[in-house]
Amino acid sequence: MFDFKYFTPTKVVFGKNTESQVAELIQEFGGTKILIHYGGGSVVRSGLLQRVTDCLDAAGIAYVTLGGAVPNPHLSLVYEGIELCKKEGVDFLLAVGGGSAIDSAKAIGYGVANPDFDVWELYDYKKQAKGCLPLGVILTIAATGSEMSDSSVITKEEGLVKRGYSSDYSRAKFAIMNPELTMTLPDYQTACGCTDIMMHTMERYFTNGGNMDLTDALAEGLLRTVKDNAVILRDDPSNYDARAEVMWAGSLAHNGLTGCGNDGGDWMTHKLEHELGGLYDVAHGAGLAAIWGTWARYVMADCLPRFKKFAINVMGVADSGTDEEIAIAGIEAMEDFYRSINMPTNLRELGVEPTEEELVEMAHKCAVGVGGEMGSAKVLNEQDMLNIYRASM
Ligand code: NZQ
Ligand code: ZN
Repeated sequence: MFDFKYFTPTKVVFGKNTESQVAELIQEFGGTKILIHYGGGSVVRSGLLQRVTDCLDAAGIAYVTLGGAVPNPHLSLVYEGIELCKKEGVDFLLAVGGGSAIDSAKAIGYGVANPDFDVWELYDYKKQAKGCLPLGVILTIAATGSEMSDSSVITKEEGLVKRGYSSDYSRAKFAIMNPELTMTLPDYQTACGCTDIMMHTMERYFTNGGNMDLTDALAEGLLRTVKDNAVILRDDPSNYDARAEVMWAGSLAHNGLTGCGNDGGDWMTHKLEHELGGLYDVAHGAGLAAIWGTWARYVMADCLPRFKKFAINVMGVADSGTDEEIAIAGIEAMEDFYRSINMPTNLRELGVEPTEEELVEMAHKCAVGVGGEMGSAKVLNEQDMLNIYRASM
């Protein structure tokens, strides 16, 4: 196993009606002027935003609001948020929504705390942040884990470039997680979320560097839990316990817990998906499902023990036959699972049909984005990325 650092400073407040504690949590972390940042309007329609502002009004906490964070959130709104924060003297951010609203809030926080350069330079790997405005979250979709992660992912509209930036400065001070808030989600988004959650742990699981039995046991347990509860939610979207299992798994899948002791993970399925999200604006989880099977077959031979272990311990494949046969059966079982929750297993099913020119462009942007080559299950270069995009059609 490798040495590691595990830093999870986020105070989690989990359960029914926990959003009513938002004002006291903001006060606990010193917020006096708040930017409430949200997405395309689901929190308005559900009445959540009104309940939040009522709590802040009752506590005498000043705030401004900024909605409009779209899935694959845009840089232009980040700039708007930075200007608003400066003008209004905002000292605390409250993201109400999913990964897109949270990530957009993180980017706004970076922009305010690092006024000497353009915030995109972080996402363009040209600068390192020296701070971020403090952030609290009220989560409405279990998916990205952004409520406890150090990451944010932003799309620059010019050139359709989607890039992530990670630093501990952006980790939320608190995350309010009420599984009931996810019950208004469309079934498709619930399934996308389950896919993303599993992928955050699978990216850390398929490695060739450093593994711990404890980390593997946590990872495999988390994967089985999400897989089982995704199917329960497909048939019974109002099942509170299943919503709660998935929501907590979403945070643990991406706060570092399922990567302790390994080499940091593979992450190439995510990198390949980010180009799809940037170019075609697909839902992140669906894009991951569309790529994963092709990636898995492409890299399997270089990471066979992990694929075999995954097949047996997560997908329930029988331990008989050659290692290759067991590994392939595990990949096929995972694809069957995706189909069972109406997730795509290739780009056609995802609803995109890139031209050869676009495949070449995505592979090139992906290679540039990872600094040439990347991966742990197998190190992929630009040609490998193109091969995977082509095979996933
Ligand atoms: O925008 P609104 O109107 O709120 O609607 C959203 C959106 O259309 C809707 N929604 C969310 N909660 C809802 C709801 N609809 C009804 N009821 C609710 N309770 O669902 C749609 C998706 O929301 P979004 O926030 O985009 O989803 P998600 O949480 O999956 O975030 C996706 C973004 O996060 C990035 C992705 O790349 C993508 O840009 N990621 C961020 C990560 C991180 N920061 O750690 C890691 C991930 O790997 C990922 O890359
Ligand atoms: Zn993800």
